[in-house]
Amino acid sequence: MAILFDSKAKTFTLQTKKSTYQMKIDEQGVLLHTYFGAGTDESDYSYLIVPDDHGFCAQPSEHGGNRNYSLDFYPQEYSVHGNGDFRIKALRAGLEGRVPALDLRYGGYEISDGKYALPGLPAFFAGKEEKVHTLRIVLKDLYEEVYVTLFYGVFEEKDIITRAAVIQNRNNVPLRLKRAMSMSLDFPEGMDAFICFHGKHAGERQFDRRTLHSGVTAIGSNRGTSSHQQNPFAILCGKDTTEEFGSCCGLSLLYSGSFQIQAEVDQFEGVRVTCGIHDEEFEWILNKDEEFVTPEAVLSYTDQGLGDLTRTMQRAMSENLIRSPWKNKKRPVLVNNWEATYFDFTGKKLLQIAQQAARIGLDMLVLDDGWFGKRDDDNSGLGDWYVNEEKLGCTLRELVEQVNEMGLQFGIWIEPEMVSENSDLYREHPDWAMTIPGRDPVRGRNQLTLDLSRREVIEYMKASIDQLLGMANIAYIKWDMNRSVDNVFSSAAPYLSQGAVRHKYILGLYEVMEYILSRYPDLLIEGCSGGGGRYDAGMLYYVPQIWCSDNTDAIERLRIHYGTSFGYPMSTVAAHVSVCPNHQNGRVTPFQTRGICAMQGAFGYELDLDKLSEEEIRQAKEQVEFYNMHYELFQNGDYYRLSSPFEHHDFTAWSYVMPDGSKASLSVVYTDLHGNPKPQRIKWRGLIPDAVYELDGQEYTGAALMRGGCILPKPRENYDSWMAVIERKAKRNK
Ligand code: GLA
Repeated sequence: MAILFDSKAKTFTLQTKKSTYQMKIDEQGVLLHTYFGAGTDESDYSYLIVPDDHGFCAQPSEHGGNRNYSLDFYPQEYSVHGNGDFRIKALRAGLEGRVPALDLRYGGYEISDGKYALPGLPAFFAGKEEKVHTLRIVLKDLYEEVYVTLFYGVFEEKDIITRAAVIQNRNNVPLRLKRAMSMSLDFPEGMDAFICFHGKHAGERQFDRRTLHSGVTAIGSNRGTSSHQQNPFAILCGKDTTEEFGSCCGLSLLYSGSFQIQAEVDQFEGVRVTCGIHDEEFEWILNKDEEFVTPEAVLSYTDQGLGDLTRTMQRAMSENLIRSPWKNKKRPVLVNNWEATYFDFTGKKLLQIAQQAARIGLDMLVLDDGWFGKRDDDNSGLGDWYVNEEKLGCTLRELVEQVNEMGLQFGIWIEPEMVSENSDLYREHPDWAMTIPGRDPVRGRNQLTLDLSRREVIEYMKASIDQLLGMANIAYIKWDMNRSVDNVFSSAAPYLSQGAVRHKYILGLYEVMEYILSRYPDLLIEGCSGGGGRYDAGMLYYVPQIWCSDNTDAIERLRIHYGTSFGYPMSTVAAHVSVCPNHQNGRVTPFQTRGICAMQGAFGYELDLDKLSEEEIRQAKEQVEFYNMHYELFQNGDYYRLSSPFEHHDFTAWSYVMPDGSKASLSVVYTDLHGNPKPQRIKWRGLIPDAVYELDGQEYTGAALMRGGCILPKPRENYDSWMAVIERKAKRNK
């Protein structure tokens, strides 16, 4: 059984294939956290807690005389404010008119089959016939009718434990939540480093490994989106942990709004990590019998290095988070007209691009920004989702029919969460935009954010989507969101409830997403927020792929893809071949290299196909054929990072291996050139040691390729690249 309650020791032990997680109810009913690490038995690990009089560590009232007990250093399962714990807390809340203080004690548990769901929020789910179990532990405040239910989902085979908390007020006075994290977790030792993924627009998810020092290391976003600047995925690991060895714990928050992940090294070098909704502008009032549900946090532990953690997370997200039926279907190889034309296109130009696309063998044309309202630049039109027929020279239906006749599907860009002040929608409903009363609004990309905490805005958004999808045969939408959210104020909410608006916005967004997914299950939705500004596990519950970055330079994408791979399946990484010199940084790279980089994810093109040379068209055809032949490997293969673009300066390499080892690919992009270069070798991973594979006409055993490695061809030019696919042979030829 994956969840065991030992009534004598009062321990809850959660078992997955490689890890064990344990909690214990102590004599006073405090829920202690006693273990999370490499798989072990159900012994009571509370012996690892050493009671002592450490000085300046406070005692709860029952312990007045026993100074060896203090919640200031005892590891806890869900830490609260007001019981003598001075570290970062999971929960800070107080009843109206009283001091915010809580003291949670054990009040019961329930174990059930299957995985719990969270109303209105993304959550992992059990696969068909997959054995998953749920544990609920109820905690109650010692004095008041405040209840916290801790939820645990145990995916034994997948090595995943999910957590969430539901806070309930049964008092007659309102409960004011100031901070309500999804989880807290205490590691007494061994977690000395923190890996996070910071960035900027056009430079998302840069790998950042920090040694933890005393005090709090915090990352987060207060931008209303999970953001380009930080990402709600982080790793705690040992100082010596590498790709292949060592302990590490991955932590993913299923949330697309402002979030916070904090890790505090305490006075005895233990680490407490908390994660959840950012508390900076958060305040939630619970009236009698109301409850607040936190977003879900997903944990995985391994002692086999960062690569193993990645594959565990990627597989679990692919199978237990992404719901779109597209997750297992071959994604269309598309051409998007954004970098080809920006706002400057006509229906005729689009059809020319489509014609070339059909010639190359692509599957879809995506019409990006600029097709609606009065939108010839990014200063106007958002909110007016009716077609600019003058610009297209025909109706949308007519355009799509012509594209379909060429054998291509049609996709379209939309940015429903936004409004331009120069739009009919804004003129009609100025109060639907979030602005601070009496002040000139703060604009981002010259646009305002619609107030998705309001019911009428949610309904308008659903209706806009229905209307758009009713206009033509649309197979795909790119759902964009192009600003950080400031001036958060809902004119429909009372002044004292404004602290709830940011979270209600995200709940509104999820409601619209849920509506689209259930009403149009076959629609392929690509998430986007100025590239990868909302690349998080919350969004992946609704969309199977996300435009990874507005930076399409193949070399900068090496770092962006590398960072993204730690927390997310590669099948979710939308990546396109674009023109040279690159529009973001002016770099020139070979066409082949751009193709190899873009094949790391959901593959496509984003340039004027009409302007390609015959040689480039030949290469594009070859790339598409190659991708179509091996897409299963790229979509479902296990991903191995073979060299880091942050450490290895000569080349970056990665590999996909089918889970049964039958087929593998290796991709290498050279990032530096040398006169008189040394031979470059690389070791494959994940192959079957005694199987035989053929590489460049020669046979090798899996063991040889993994332990000895293979020799890479010499680079011939700047940013040259190389890619090989090998397959297991029935038996050796000689
Ligand atoms: C964002 C997206 C781009 C493009 C533009 C259109 O920046 O990330 O891919 O769609 O918006 O305005």
